[in-house]
Amino acid sequence: MTTRHLSPTALVIFGITGNLVQRKLMPALYHLESQKRLPEQFSIVAIFHGVPDMETVMQQVELQLLRDHQDFDPDILLALRKHIRPIQMDSTNAGDYAKLREELDKLATDEQTAFSHLFYLAIPPSIFEPVIDNLASVGLNTPSEGCASRVLVEKPFGNDLHSARELIEHLGSRFEENQIFRIDHYLAKETAQNILAFRFDNPLIEGIWSRQFIDHIQITMSEKIGIQGRVAFYEGMGALRDIVQNHLMQLIALVMMEYPDGLSGHAIHKEKLRLLESIERISPEHVDEVVVRGQYEGYAEEVANSSTKNETYVALKLEVANSRWGGVPILLRTGKAMATAATEIRVVFKDRLQRAVDDNLLIIRIQPNEGISLKLVVKRPGFTNVLKPVEMSFDYHDSFTGQQPDPYQRVLVDAMRGDQSLFATGEEIMASWELLQPILDYWHASSAAPEIYEKGSWGVKSADTLAASYGCNWFNPDPEPEADHR
Ligand code: BG6
Repeated sequence: MTTRHLSPTALVIFGITGNLVQRKLMPALYHLESQKRLPEQFSIVAIFHGVPDMETVMQQVELQLLRDHQDFDPDILLALRKHIRPIQMDSTNAGDYAKLREELDKLATDEQTAFSHLFYLAIPPSIFEPVIDNLASVGLNTPSEGCASRVLVEKPFGNDLHSARELIEHLGSRFEENQIFRIDHYLAKETAQNILAFRFDNPLIEGIWSRQFIDHIQITMSEKIGIQGRVAFYEGMGALRDIVQNHLMQLIALVMMEYPDGLSGHAIHKEKLRLLESIERISPEHVDEVVVRGQYEGYAEEVANSSTKNETYVALKLEVANSRWGGVPILLRTGKAMATAATEIRVVFKDRLQRAVDDNLLIIRIQPNEGISLKLVVKRPGFTNVLKPVEMSFDYHDSFTGQQPDPYQRVLVDAMRGDQSLFATGEEIMASWELLQPILDYWHASSAAPEIYEKGSWGVKSADTLAASYGCNWFNPDPEPEADHR
C-alpha cells in the first residue's frame, strides 16, 4: 500500500514535549518516513509553550529509536526533522491562535498548495476544552475545499463518566463526528484487527463461538514496567481507567460482538456498541464480589503519597447478557510491574458435561509473539490410552514476511486518509464509562485499600479466589525473553 497519494497534510502537534509523542508518535513518523508512506507534501507544526527546543525532543526520539531498533538510521530522522516547523504559543490563550493560523497559511503559500490539517492532541484533560475552543475561534475546525480538518485525540477520554460526557459533548460542539479520531492504539494492533477476520471468515470458529461451547473467556494485559516516573499521569488514573476502560473493553467488544452488517467502519462500530451496552451492570453492593484491585509494593513511596489508594492492578469478572453469551464469565486482569509483559485472550472450551477443559482452548496473542494457537487433546502414540495436550499454532513472524506496522503508524495513516474504523466512537467510550463508573464510585466511598502485590509477580492473591469462584484458573502468559522489555 502506498500512501504517497494522500493529500498535502499539516500535522499540528500539541504536547510535543510529552512522553507519548516521543515514545510513540515520533517513532511512528520516523518509520512512515523511512517507508515513504507520508504524503508527498507533509509538514509537522510542533507547538512549544516556551522557547522551541526541537533538539532536545529529537534527542529523546533518537534514544527511543536506538533502544527499540537495531537498524536505526540517523539520516531518516534527519529527513523527518526537515518537515518540522516549531512555533511558540500558549495553547490556552485564544489570542495566540492567529499565529497558528498564520503559520498554516504561510505553509500553504510556501508550498503553493492547500493543506489538510490534522490536530494531534496529547494534552492534559484540564486544557482540552480551551484548545478545542481556540482552534474553532480561528476557524481551524472547518474543512476547506478539498482539505480536511481533523482532530486526533489521545486518551484519557475523561476521568469518569461525567467528565467524559462533557468532553465528548464539547468536542462534538466544535467538530463533526467524522472529523474526530479518538485513539485507542490497541485497535490498531495487527492482532486485534485480525480478531474479526479470524472469527467471521473461518466457519469452524464461527460455529463454536457461543455459550454452547465456550466455558469462559479471559484477557490478561500485563506489563513488566511500573509507572516509569509518570506520577502526574498515573496517580488518580489507576489501572481501571488507564487500561480497562479503553483497551480491554475494546478487545471484549471485538471478541464478543455479533456479525456486523458488512465490514464498514460504521457497521462494526454499531455492533461493538451493542455489545458494550449488553454487558451486565455491576451494582455497588456487588463490586467486591466481582472486582479486586492491587498496588505493587513500593508504589506509595514512588509517588510520595503514603495514603495513595491508586490501583496498579485490577481483575474483574463481567458477563454479557444476551442469548449468545449469557452465563459465560469474562475474566479480565491488567497490572503494572508484573511477571511478564503480554496481552493475551484465552477462550476456554467446555466438554459434553459442561466442564471447562483447560487443555482445550484458543489463545489469541495480541503481543508479544503475535499469533493464534489452538490447544487440543490427542492420544499419545503407544499401547496405552494416554492423552496429551498439543498445540496448533499460527505465528505472524513465521507466516508473513516484512515488519508489521506499529499501531501508531496505522493510526496516523488512517487519520490522514479519513478512515475511522480503527478509532473509538464517543458512544463506545460512554458505554464503557457507564459500566465502570459504579466501581469507581464504590472505591471512592470505601475506606479499604488495594491489596499489595510483589513486583514481578502475577498480582494479588484475591484475583485467584475471584477466578476460582467461577470455576476458572488464570493462565499466565509465557515469559518472552527477547521482546519482553516493556
Ligand atoms: C497506554 C497506557 O494506553 O498503554 C500505558 O496509558 C500503557 O499506561 C500502554 O503502558 C501500554 O501499551 P502497549 O502498546 O505497550 O501495550
